Amino acid sequence: MIDPTLLEKLVDESNDGIVVAEREGNENIFIYTNAAFERLTGYTREDILYQDCRFLQKEDRSQDAIQRIREALKQDHPICEVVRNYRKDGSMFWNELRITPVFNDDDQLMYYIGIQKAHCVRIVVPLTD
Ligand SMILES: Cc1cc2nc3c(=O)[nH]c(=O)nc-3n(C[C@H](O)[C@H](O)[C@H](O)COP(=O)(O)O)c2cc1C
Repeated sequence: MIDPTLLEKLVDESNDGIVVAEREGNENIFIYTNAAFERLTGYTREDILYQDCRFLQKEDRSQDAIQRIREALKQDHPICEVVRNYRKDGSMFWNELRITPVFNDDDQLMYYIGIQKAHCVRIVVPLTD
């Protein structure tokens, strides 16, 4: 079995944001975020622990992708969507977000794992000779 301190160090070395959230009423609150999530968003763990992840959307909440996430979570389904999010300094980034619900042996929802990547948006410009 891998040493928990080593595991945490390795997870912190990931280039992708890795978070764990749990459901509390209508909220999905962060109980863990790795270092890449801090680099991606500009928020520190202290800033955002125990908050719902929707704060990354700021006022930009009417996105179809957010509606699809809401529906998937209601039905305890995994989902992958690209959403517009905002860093602590207000700059926008496309967040390629993957959410996986985690169940216990009695099939009760325990946690969600979230993986966040800064999405590369490519504008295809035709090449000229
Ligand atoms: C583990 C996890 C990670 C999430 N990460 C993000 C995120 O990085 N950015 C985001 O906009 N929403 C994220 N969400 C989605 C929001 O928490 C919320 O579910 C979504 O905004 C839809 O619900 P609402 O209409 O109640 O806000 C995450 C949800 C979970 C469960």
